[in-house]
Amino acid sequence: MAARKIIVDTDPGQDDAVAILLALASPGEIEVLDITCVAGNVPLELTARNARIVCELANRPNIPIYAGCDRPLKRHLVTAEHVHGITGLDGPMLPEPVMPLKDGHAVDFIIDTLRKTEPKTVTLVPIGPLTNVGAALERAPEIASRIQEIVLMGGAYFEVGNVTPTAEFNIYVDPHAAKTVFSSGVPITVMPLDVTHKALVTDKRSNAFRSIGNKAGVAVAEMTGFFERFDREKYGANAAPLHDPCTIAYLLQPDIFSGRHVNVEIETSSELTMGMTVADWWRVTDRPANALFMGDMDANAFFTLLTDKIARL
Ligand code: RIB
Ligand code: CA
Repeated sequence: MAARKIIVDTDPGQDDAVAILLALASPGEIEVLDITCVAGNVPLELTARNARIVCELANRPNIPIYAGCDRPLKRHLVTAEHVHGITGLDGPMLPEPVMPLKDGHAVDFIIDTLRKTEPKTVTLVPIGPLTNVGAALERAPEIASRIQEIVLMGGAYFEVGNVTPTAEFNIYVDPHAAKTVFSSGVPITVMPLDVTHKALVTDKRSNAFRSIGNKAGVAVAEMTGFFERFDREKYGANAAPLHDPCTIAYLLQPDIFSGRHVNVEIETSSELTMGMTVADWWRVTDRPANALFMGDMDANAFFTLLTDKIARL
């Protein structure tokens, strides 16, 4: 079976970094066409730096990396240094990147790539705010019919919000872009906090990363060890949730996850609930289903997959 062609749109972010490593560690199953960076966890200049650091950590300095939008479509940028550190990749000591960014804007690249490739052969994997993807869909609506699937990390329903009482960070930062994505008609698979908060890096799992014995394994242990402290203070959990790698794990082993095909709308009017993913989980409305919204996962299977793959880098 041919490898799945993907574009990872990202705001690294330690968990983004682990998702990128997982994708790059699976060349027979996933072909990373390129990485597009967006402002989110930290400003764009740093997310574009961090994406290159991660590709070089994976010994893949030829992966094309584009910088994209440096602010949301309509709202002011909200960042998360309190979670990810001032660089966005605090934890491991990794060298500054040598590989250059590609010339051109990520949104133009996404549009051009989708126009040039065979329809329904490229999957978008947004794991940060949806600004780049939303901008591409607004500027070139015809690409919606050419996207194979959007597999995104974002949103929350039963788990409620992590940046406000009702909103998850990626959707909250750019709710207008998210609204465009969820109303695009593209097949969407959502990895919300409802599942990612079950992907907890316990000490045992962290030690398994560290004892792989390669640079990537140690870096993953150090990255997750850093951003664990936020979740410990907030949730009392002594383990970091690995949000973004759930998207790549779904592409590799979908049966790790279970969910429902339901309607998901994005709040863009009320400041109180701005960025809320209003998932009709119990189908109490006649709003058409527009997303496969995940609700559960097999965390042990996830970490077995992740550890096996990181060991190949
Ligand atoms: O809410 C979690 C999401 O926000 C993850 O993608 C994390 O990297 C941050 O971007
Ligand atoms: Ca992210």
